[in-house]
Amino acid sequence: MKRVLLAALATGALALSAAFGAHAQGTVKIAMIAEFTGPFADYGTQIYNGVKTYIRMHGDTFGGKKVEFVVKDTTGASPDLAKRLAQDAVTQDKVDILAGFGLTPNALATAPVASEAKKPMVIMNAATSIITKNSPYIVRLSHTLPQDTMPMAQWALKNGIKKAFVLVSDYGPGKDAEAEFVKDFKAGGGEIVGSVRTPLQNPEFAPFIQRAKDSNPQAIFVFLPPGSQTIAFIKGYEERGLKQAGIKIIATGDLTDDGVLEAMGDPTLGIVTSFHYSYVHDSPENKAFVKAYGEVNGTKMRPNFMACAGYDGMAAIAEALKKTNGSVDPEQLMAAFKGMKLTSPRGPIMIDPETRDIVQTVYVRRVEKVNGQLVNVEFDKFPDVKDPGK
Ligand code: PHB
Repeated sequence: MKRVLLAALATGALALSAAFGAHAQGTVKIAMIAEFTGPFADYGTQIYNGVKTYIRMHGDTFGGKKVEFVVKDTTGASPDLAKRLAQDAVTQDKVDILAGFGLTPNALATAPVASEAKKPMVIMNAATSIITKNSPYIVRLSHTLPQDTMPMAQWALKNGIKKAFVLVSDYGPGKDAEAEFVKDFKAGGGEIVGSVRTPLQNPEFAPFIQRAKDSNPQAIFVFLPPGSQTIAFIKGYEERGLKQAGIKIIATGDLTDDGVLEAMGDPTLGIVTSFHYSYVHDSPENKAFVKAYGEVNGTKMRPNFMACAGYDGMAAIAEALKKTNGSVDPEQLMAAFKGMKLTSPRGPIMIDPETRDIVQTVYVRRVEKVNGQLVNVEFDKFPDVKDPGK
């Protein structure tokens, strides 16, 4: 009898160690699912650069487990591909955590995979408000558009802007930015004199910019995904004489992204934006981050907000693994994320235990030239901003 019991126990133990083989060897596998090629290639690159910067500064072993990465390229806004890559990561690569996600459509498409496979999904950029509601396994270390927009609307009203035109990209984050701006601006006595939504793929800005000019606002409020679109927008704004007509740009900091600012050039000087991260944020943590980023990734690319969120996403995973003593049990990891407080290169951040979304300081900044470089200089701040939609 005793023998039979022992044999059964031994078989059980064997089966267990086979099922958790990877963990028995002391590794935690993280899928980095993001845009590494195509028009949004900088998104995945910045996010993963940020993750690598964290590893450089803090090592690769947390709670006794070494982290390993499996990199998956969505090649752009490709929800079907993102979902398939996540499924492959879970079933073939046997990852413990899904991470990355620059673009909203890719994050939304992956949410059901996180729910079905019960894998924590760490968002390192995608910023449409609703994303965290689509799976209880999602935690966001980046930002939301309403969170970054609300301070801009307040600042504009306080600074005498009462008539605005709204131009946003026609998908989740753009619609979120538009809704928040219109709500706050009108509530504070402002008037919206017109609005347009521009396509996510290959937009032609000239007619939209002309419409904005013809409606004669004091300012255009803008959300566009940074890269070729923000460069094209600034070029059109300059060429069509909006600046000379006295029409200001106000925006979330996506428009004056540190990674693209030099490519947009001097026409950006003086633009005021609200955002959670600036490459020249003045803190010891940011100085250390920027220095290590350059050592790991070279100095051709400045770390931007996506790199910062990659760094913080990795920090959150590291802290969670320390709390669980290396366990990758999804419920334990999610419990560890909830309420977590970190000192980020951007300032203090917290994961709201109810929404699993980030609470953080949003800064008001102005583009200036400092030591020959175009940078976003912070001059005001709104502490502890939650996603206003939640
Ligand atoms: C998004 O797709 O959620 C997104 C992309 C770029 C941004 C912000 C949000 O700058």
